[in-house]
Amino acid sequence: MQYMTLNNGVKMPIVGFGVFQISPEETKQAVLDAIDAGYRLIDTAQVYKNEKEVGQAIAESGISREEFFITTKVWVGNYGYENCRASVLKSMEQMGLDYIDLVLLHQPFSDYYGAYNALEDLYEEGLVRAIGVSNFQPDRLTDICLFNRRIIPAINQVETNPFNAQYEAHANMEKNGVQIEAWAPFAEGKNNIFNNPTLVEIGEKHGKTSAQVIVRWLIDRSIIVLCKSVHK
Ligand SMILES: NC(=O)c1ccc[n+]([C@@H]2O[C@H](COP(=O)([O-])OP(=O)(O)OC[C@H]3O[C@@H](n4cnc5c(N)ncnc54)[C@H](OP(=O)(O)O)[C@@H]3O)[C@@H](O)[C@H]2O)c1
Repeated sequence: MQYMTLNNGVKMPIVGFGVFQISPEETKQAVLDAIDAGYRLIDTAQVYKNEKEVGQAIAESGISREEFFITTKVWVGNYGYENCRASVLKSMEQMGLDYIDLVLLHQPFSDYYGAYNALEDLYEEGLVRAIGVSNFQPDRLTDICLFNRRIIPAINQVETNPFNAQYEAHANMEKNGVQIEAWAPFAEGKNNIFNNPTLVEIGEKHGKTSAQVIVRWLIDRSIIVLCKSVHK
């Protein structure tokens, strides 16, 4: 597995498994299958309602905790300092973990300043190894970097795929020292992406599927990529 080094020195796998839109009933098996396939970065969120099952899969895998890189995201309804802090502690309890590798603010709405301050404190207490944001457009990202000089976000997780390449936003993140992470690399399967003629043509040249071509394109751009499938 290739790793990216975040702005605080923490190493993060460049490819991960996301559990958005996987029901709680399906999550444990999907994560166990992903672990079996070699994934160690697992991306969940409070709003996905499957943190507990992610934790169960980690516990049942028999693989040591240190090998995993677990991300969750704080939902906007849990923003503000106190609510954010309490919600992250609850996420840890749900997953049965005594630390979380990465915690992100899911969206730039409501009191995300207070929420970010809570993440900074959790980070300094050693309960979280890295903190960051998600869906922050360049203006919001620059704002939070300027406003919170204590800890610059390690990650900004944004939609990134061949239909939404994020070239300008990526450049802005690099300027701010923030690592980009791609959600929906396959555009959630929309617009017939797996049969896109350009991707199929590139794949045929290399004996790869369109999905593999996309993952390679993102890795070559030094973008951390989250894939999701319930099919092993
Ligand atoms: N921060 C945010 O706001 C945000 C938003 C969205 C997503 N995310 C994160 O990013 C992760 C990935 O994004 P996503 O789940 O929205 O979409 P995605 O990974 O772009 O696409 C998932 C879809 O592609 C299909 N698929 C996956 N691999 C395939 C393959 N090799 N061949 C054919 N079909 C394939 C899956 O089908 P099957 O499952 O049926 O196999 C599923 O329908 C999420 O799980 C989540 O962790 C974050």
